[in-house]
Amino acid sequence: MESVQATKQRFGIIGNDPKLNRAVEKSIQVAPTDISVLVTGESGVGKESIPKIIHSLSHRKHGKYIAVNCGAIPEGTIDSELFGHEKGAFTGATQTRSGYFEVADGGTIFLDEVGELPLTTQVRLLRVLENGEFIKVGSSKVQKTDVRIVAATNVNMFEAIKKERFREDLYYRLSTVEILLPPLRERKDDIHLLFRKFASDFATKYKMPTIRLSDEAVILLEKYHWSGNIRQLRNIAEQISVLEQNRAITAASLHGYLPNMGNNLPAVISSDKKESNFSNEREILYKVLFDMKSDLNDLKKLTMELMQNGNNQQVQKDNEGLIQKIYQEKEETHFEKPVRKPTSEVLEIQSQNTIQRTEDDKYHFAEEIEEEETLSLHDKELELIKKSLERHRGKRKAAAEELGISERTLYRKIKQYDL
Ligand SMILES: Nc1ncnc2c1ncn2[C@@H]1O[C@H](COP(=O)(O)OP(=O)(O)OP(=O)(O)O)[C@@H](O)[C@H]1O
Ligand SMILES: [Mg+2]
Repeated sequence: MESVQATKQRFGIIGNDPKLNRAVEKSIQVAPTDISVLVTGESGVGKESIPKIIHSLSHRKHGKYIAVNCGAIPEGTIDSELFGHEKGAFTGATQTRSGYFEVADGGTIFLDEVGELPLTTQVRLLRVLENGEFIKVGSSKVQKTDVRIVAATNVNMFEAIKKERFREDLYYRLSTVEILLPPLRERKDDIHLLFRKFASDFATKYKMPTIRLSDEAVILLEKYHWSGNIRQLRNIAEQISVLEQNRAITAASLHGYLPNMGNNLPAVISSDKKESNFSNEREILYKVLFDMKSDLNDLKKLTMELMQNGNNQQVQKDNEGLIQKIYQEKEETHFEKPVRKPTSEVLEIQSQNTIQRTEDDKYHFAEEIEEEETLSLHDKELELIKKSLERHRGKRKAAAEELGISERTLYRKIKQYDL
């Protein structure tokens, strides 16, 4: 049997944490069998390597390996993608098509974000797992396939089962063996090791000297919460590698790259925190999206005004001011790093709000401001979704297109906000 060290090297897995080693060891052990495996762990912990290890060390290694992101495929087409369809099964089905389960016969399918599968698809999947049978969409012919399934999720499956979003029988069928990847914050000894590896990779990539952390910076790095795990660590190593002139990185300069350093909480303030798989990146994307939307509305208003007022100079002046404001706001919101606000700024905000606070309160106040911003973001999001749904008379597809999000994300939001 291939050793844990050799496998890690082969798949570029860095770290010596016992829990990580156990996850790799388990992958090696289950590989030769056909047992279904469920890989669990927070976002960015490296779940995608596990099914690759399992496939490569199995007798299926010469067969196909297909990775499917269940969260990214629209609900309306997922059955057809996975199981195929007959010609004429639905509008646009001009030809018979084979699905992944047919194509991967004799191989492995990796179902990433399996918690996102619609309930109807879950029924079909259960059937394949139980007796290898499936039926193409629009067909009545039962087909057979021999596929090994490895699934992954970063959401709490028990919550999903409790909320009847995931079938309990399917969960047990998928998770005959569960491989849990630990979050980075529980692998303290690996943090600096990973950082050094990424720093060296980026130095090569950008043809610059490698950045080095001071002892204090290393302590800070190891203390940080890393809610985005290894993906976030790599991102930060890349940012610093590109942006810092001085290649010796102090704790102070590192601090500026670590979001929410103060409270060590993720930026998302959700009522449904546990099962939310919203990453910080996605939250930022939403913010940018909504800001752009409101900018667009401002610009629309402005154009209307211009059309109504001809070349009225005063209006033009106002509008120039408005445009300037939009760009100023954009710079502030999008390029400001989400670090704790400096004391002077906090005190200034206090005085503007004429609230008397003690010295001890000032950081809490900064956090409240951050929380208020996030809450208003939620309000904005809710309002936009409502408006868009109204405009499209409840048609989710059109509303999702307008909002620039997937239909399934919109579906989740509708449920989340109970719309
Ligand atoms: N032990 C590791 N050594 C080196 N790189 C790693 C390690 N673990 C993860 N990575 C890198 O971190 C990034 C995130 O990993 P991956 O995409 O597997 O995360 P994930 O667990 O699937 O997250 P999500 O649930 O968000 O999909 C990838 O670029 C991966 O190569
Ligand atoms: Mg992944």
